[in-house]
Amino acid sequence: MAHVENGSETRRNFLYIATAGFGTVTAGAAVWPLVDQMNPSADVQAASQIRVDVSDVPVGTQLTVLFLGKPVFIRHRTEEEIADARSVDVADLTIDAMSRNENNPDTDASDENRSMIDFSGNNTGEWLLMEGVCTHLGCVPIGEGAGDFGGWFCPCHGSHYDTSGRIRRGPAPENLPIPLAEFVDETTILLG
Ligand code: FES
Repeated sequence: MAHVENGSETRRNFLYIATAGFGTVTAGAAVWPLVDQMNPSADVQAASQIRVDVSDVPVGTQLTVLFLGKPVFIRHRTEEEIADARSVDVADLTIDAMSRNENNPDTDASDENRSMIDFSGNNTGEWLLMEGVCTHLGCVPIGEGAGDFGGWFCPCHGSHYDTSGRIRRGPAPENLPIPLAEFVDETTILLG
């Protein structure tokens, strides 16, 4: 199994890079909000699956990993974020009412259809994993409670995503997409 380690010293807190086709990403205080930090190697682009250890991702923070050349946000949501996301009526999701979840295709965009199922088979809403690529023109949205709906905000043209990553205001046409991902033990996510 390939090993994954931090990037250069100057990028130490920004991203983790898989070095081969099947990698392990070690969790940490990763913050990676800027598209110009995208510089995936050929190896990373070729990776088809990675394992991500989320044991060190505190509630209320987000780990960003690079997968197939794109940032993937893994948010450990607070109780308030979960409650906000689950209080939204799907009928109010007027821009995109579909879950856009590869793990749960052709379903509506209720938070229950977008958040991850844990290793015990429960969907508590604690974990939300999705591509960090704005569905308008591909910028990387800012997270950590940003925007008018407390989720993510894309400043390129003003798209606001809620705490479930659903587009609520602005030009983006779809919710942030959710790639194939599952917990393979209590603290490890297999992505891809
Ligand atoms: S790329 Fe996100 S709003 Fe335009």
